[in-house]
Amino acid sequence: MKVIIIGCGYVGLSTGIVLAYIGHEVTLIDRDEEKIAKLRAGELPIYEHGLQEVLRASAGRISFTDDWDSFDTNADAVVIAVGTPIGEGGGVDLTYVRAAVKEIGARVNGNLPVILLKSTVPPGTGREMRALLQQKLAERGMKSKVTLISNPEFLREGQALFDSFYPDRIVAGIDSHEEEAFLTALYQPVLLQDFIPPHGIPRPGNDRLPALFATDLTSAELIKYAANAFLAVKISFINEFANLAESVGADITAVARGIGLDQRIGPQFLQAGIGWGGSCFGKDMRAILHAGKRHQSELPIVRAALEVNQTQRELVAKKLQAKLNSLAGRTIGLLGLAFKPGTDDLRDAPSLDIIRQLVGGGARVKVYDPAAMERLACEHSTLDVECCPTAESLFEGCDAVVLVTEWEEFLHLPYAELGERMREKLLVDGRNVLDQKMLTDAGFTVCSVGRSDTGGGREWLGAVYK
Ligand code: UGA
Repeated sequence: MKVIIIGCGYVGLSTGIVLAYIGHEVTLIDRDEEKIAKLRAGELPIYEHGLQEVLRASAGRISFTDDWDSFDTNADAVVIAVGTPIGEGGGVDLTYVRAAVKEIGARVNGNLPVILLKSTVPPGTGREMRALLQQKLAERGMKSKVTLISNPEFLREGQALFDSFYPDRIVAGIDSHEEEAFLTALYQPVLLQDFIPPHGIPRPGNDRLPALFATDLTSAELIKYAANAFLAVKISFINEFANLAESVGADITAVARGIGLDQRIGPQFLQAGIGWGGSCFGKDMRAILHAGKRHQSELPIVRAALEVNQTQRELVAKKLQAKLNSLAGRTIGLLGLAFKPGTDDLRDAPSLDIIRQLVGGGARVKVYDPAAMERLACEHSTLDVECCPTAESLFEGCDAVVLVTEWEEFLHLPYAELGERMREKLLVDGRNVLDQKMLTDAGFTVCSVGRSDTGGGREWLGAVYK
């Protein structure tokens, strides 16, 4: 099929590259000339595992343009994957979605393409956009019926390709069986899992095929928000219990494991830590709170999860304050800046709040991240931090080091050796991923989230872990 994708952000790029890989002829449109120039030169504007290789493997079936005039009127599908930021009033700003719909309405001819709405939009938007497109066509004297499908995206940054090639489900907000048949054809290789897996992104070792879940337009839109809110609530829930675990002398990693073994609860998204971040959870929860309010639905659980998350980000400064008496004049090193490993994304990253709190308390802050240093310099140049070239150099002269992002390389640092470079051997493990016993044996004082400083609980629970 011929597919046009509007928007070269995370979702647009990943979707476009995957659709091209599975055999479609894809054109990505974005108004950002610089971004398009980069993409044409084979460079990606984002850091995403495997994307470069899959882009290379799809060469010949994918092209990029900033010129709407090259819109192919013979396209079978147009995917809208533009940004939906929070607007001034607190609701979702649909400016880019509307602009895309208007552009489509001004250009399509004859056989209308199927429109897929992938941008995350408040419930009701799909219907509104379908009416807008119909109106634009009517203004041009066209009476053809518009087909608009809500097709929300569930990919995670850092695992965008894995999630796109091997999704649990593809959700389709549709009105007719023809629309379902169209989506089935578009995603057929993914639904049947009969494509050759790209190098470096092997098929998971289960035989489960992704489900195509078809429902009505508005329910599909709400599924997206409900999914993100549920995951964020799950993390805030375990973080709330982490704080209780710490007070009563329990180990939250054992508690998470113990509840996660119940298949109704499941083990995922129960990793306690310094809170969730990223461009989606916070934005989507605020957006659905705003939408809920408009429909007299307060969504107190969603609100509470946001509040718990904000409090969680304050833990690091509080723990350091308690251990060091005062932050003033102290040097604190942050291992990791990105909101999670596998990405250079700093949007709503807990690291940014932590830096502000530490600097506000009078500390000198050193930072290192394997991927996000450049982005920090570009997007947060006003933050008063010292950027370190390596994780090792970060430890030099520190009164404490905080693990903020659980990058793989941080798990294998020579901590015993690096401790010797510090003024005080204090380590805050903000993601509960380091070996507490190894660190305490090396003379570190270790604080984690929801566990006692000695990590005793985990040791005697070792047998149960197996
Ligand atoms: C999230 C959803 O997981 C995707 O399904 C969704 O498509 C995406 O938002 C979106 O709406 O675009 P993403 O933001 O990329 O994906 O990241 P996640 O892997 O979900 O992690 C979000 C945050 O939660 C990270 O800061 C991570 O460190 C934190 N987290 C995750 C925890 O603190 N504990 C956990 O157990 C899991």
